[in-house]
Amino acid sequence: MKLENQVAIVTGAGRNIGEQIARLLSSEGARIAIVDLDKELGAAVADDIVKAGGDAVALVADVSDADDVKKLVSNVVDRFGRVDILVNNVAISDNRDILEITEEEWDRTIAVTLRSPFLMTKYVALQMVAQGDGGKIVNIGSTSGHRGRARAVAYASAKGGVANFTRSAAFQLAKYGIRVNTVSPNKTGSPVGRAEIDPNRPITNLANRPGEPIDTANAVLFLVSNDSSFVWGQDLFVDGGVTAMEVG
Ligand SMILES: NC(=O)c1ccc[n+]([C@@H]2O[C@H](COP(=O)([O-])OP(=O)(O)OC[C@H]3O[C@@H](n4cnc5c(N)ncnc54)[C@H](O)[C@@H]3O)[C@@H](O)[C@H]2O)c1
Repeated sequence: MKLENQVAIVTGAGRNIGEQIARLLSSEGARIAIVDLDKELGAAVADDIVKAGGDAVALVADVSDADDVKKLVSNVVDRFGRVDILVNNVAISDNRDILEITEEEWDRTIAVTLRSPFLMTKYVALQMVAQGDGGKIVNIGSTSGHRGRARAVAYASAKGGVANFTRSAAFQLAKYGIRVNTVSPNKTGSPVGRAEIDPNRPITNLANRPGEPIDTANAVLFLVSNDSSFVWGQDLFVDGGVTAMEVG
């Protein structure tokens, strides 16, 4: 197993991509803190992991709130003794264009999608620095952080921020042995913020299929394991090749 006895925090792990990441890291031996705003969703995933023989705890927190994040990190350390891996997976989409989005919608989207990886990285990295033996952090970005979109102006802006936040965090935390990378999915499972898959979601890519949560989870596993020990501050596109295509 690749992550035996390591402790991992996965945010937004109550469903979809985050859930799959938590299940995969657990299957490789990690002990998992399942973090979600939705108590039932997180508890169901943690219960399932425990039933399958893993070690997991469900914790409720709003990861855009600094007090919640500080309490969360301290609860994880109380429960597991340390933190080795952080996956910042939570995001919400505004799904608005610039002429219709309100300032409140903009602020909430930026808070949940960009401020939350900052807060989580800061307070988990302080713990990792105190532990003294490094760590691995993966931020879930999006192809939306690399191109303009017809809608979702705040989400696309936040994901652009996540891409460059990763590079700065990687630069600043490397001296502590903490490796920070991004995984950028595209059209995976259901649209962000929705539990159900939309069968009419348009898909154009080189793989000729939509992404599955396991595609992103496999990339995360690579980036938190020693298989990627020479990969620092990168943005791994898990997008069926869509960003490689010139359209029109
Ligand atoms: N689904 C896609 O097609 C797609 C494409 C590109 C990138 N991504 C990225 O992948 C990640 C996961 O996407 P998804 O589609 O699985 O999301 P999702 O909306 O299905 O799940 C997100 C989870 O986060 C939780 N959550 C929301 N706000 C929270 C908060 N403030 N604090 C704690 N928990 C909170 C929700 O309860 C939910 O369980 C996101 O970063 C998203 O931007 C997804």
